[in-house]
Amino acid sequence: MNDALVIEGLAGKRALSGTITVSGAKNAALKTFAATLLFKDSVTIENVPDIEDIKRMADLLGDLGASLERKNHHTYIIKTPEKIRTELANSISKRMRSSILLIGPLLARFGSVSFPHPGGCVLGERPIDIFLNGFSQMGASVKKKGSTYSMKVSGRLKGAEIFMKLQSVTATETFMMAGVLAKGTTVLKNAATEPEIIELAAFLNVCGAKIEGAGTHTITIQGGNLLSSGGKVHRTMPDRIEAGSFLILAALVGKDITIKECEPKHIEALIVALRAAGVQMEIKGSSIRVHTLIKWKPFRGVNVKTHEYPGFPTDLQAPMTVFLTQTKGESLVFETIFEGRLNYTEAINSMGADITMMDPHRVLVHGPTPLRGKKLESPDIRAGLAFLIAASIAKGRSTIDNVYYIDRGYERIEERLSALGLNIKRIQK
Ligand code: EPU
Repeated sequence: MNDALVIEGLAGKRALSGTITVSGAKNAALKTFAATLLFKDSVTIENVPDIEDIKRMADLLGDLGASLERKNHHTYIIKTPEKIRTELANSISKRMRSSILLIGPLLARFGSVSFPHPGGCVLGERPIDIFLNGFSQMGASVKKKGSTYSMKVSGRLKGAEIFMKLQSVTATETFMMAGVLAKGTTVLKNAATEPEIIELAAFLNVCGAKIEGAGTHTITIQGGNLLSSGGKVHRTMPDRIEAGSFLILAALVGKDITIKECEPKHIEALIVALRAAGVQMEIKGSSIRVHTLIKWKPFRGVNVKTHEYPGFPTDLQAPMTVFLTQTKGESLVFETIFEGRLNYTEAINSMGADITMMDPHRVLVHGPTPLRGKKLESPDIRAGLAFLIAASIAKGRSTIDNVYYIDRGYERIEERLSALGLNIKRIQK
């Protein structure tokens, strides 16, 4: 659990070559797992990434009483029985923000749910007021005792018009799932538009739901009966954050890298920013190739502002900031979604970067600066991967502790990167 990764940095050389395949999306599969609670029959989900967060979600569902069969590393068959527990296991929910996804389908199908305040706080405060307000609009009573919330509804949830003050991804998804079994019509306004939401709606619609507008800021759901997969198999979309992280790594240390089975359209904001910085790439269908067969000019700094989709994803902000330490000039990184998501920059500075924190939402990156290998500790999933990228560019050896965070989001990362030629090893502690 407390494994470490040891990386021998490439000291700025572009030396990695080969093909890397993008896994199924963590933030899509987690939602499909939650959605299985809306089904009367079993649901088969394939291309599920073999990562810690999925294991936790599987444990959470199993603890409620769902039956989960793992057909192979990437395929699950999940069935919800007629009766299950509706109290989310404290130990798991407290460590995983996405446990909140389950509250919509549980409340809609079984009429009650109780759960602790979900998730850790490394990204700053992560309130759940949008969820609580929305479900009370749908007719649920909401109570808080100590740190446990409980919600109940007599009969069915009722459709409501919910305006979300912020475009919350998981709130949009859990309301959408609840709306599928609610009485009447639910309208979600100022809804988030991430591709994972479109995928979830498409999957539910194929199985009998009536959802319109997913991918726009207004989603309308006509409530109905339990869904049925009818034996159809759902394939998880490619992980856009993983694809984007590999693209950044390829731009920095790739000699000739092809990233395959990705959806380039989902990372357009990153592609535009990298191209503006001088990165050259070839995009063909579902693959992106980065190579140095053509002579590259030194990279230029670019400003980055995170934004809801299709803007620059907050989940790629840390890897992009590491990229900007290798570009010429000054770049401003403006993190607009989460408050505590720039704290990792201190560790990158300890490797030799020149990043100034302006305020909790903005840093100024001065480059280019060579980086030195260091002993680091992964603070969260995405910053953990950013450390790995920094360690790959650096001169000398880096050790990244707390690899558990990287394992939460990325499957067998050391195997996949060492196949490209990176000297990376896992040490079990
Ligand atoms: N917010 C509130 N009240 C709420 C809910 C959200 O104020 O009740 C605020 C948040 O504090 C934040 C903003 O709304 O400032 C947007 O957060 P959002 O709710 O969209 O985040 P999330 O749904 O909890 C998902 C992803 C995150 C990703 C964000 C933003 C999943 C499981 N998680 O989180 O992914 O960073 O959207 O795109 O889909 C990750 O994968 O590492 C990760 C953190």
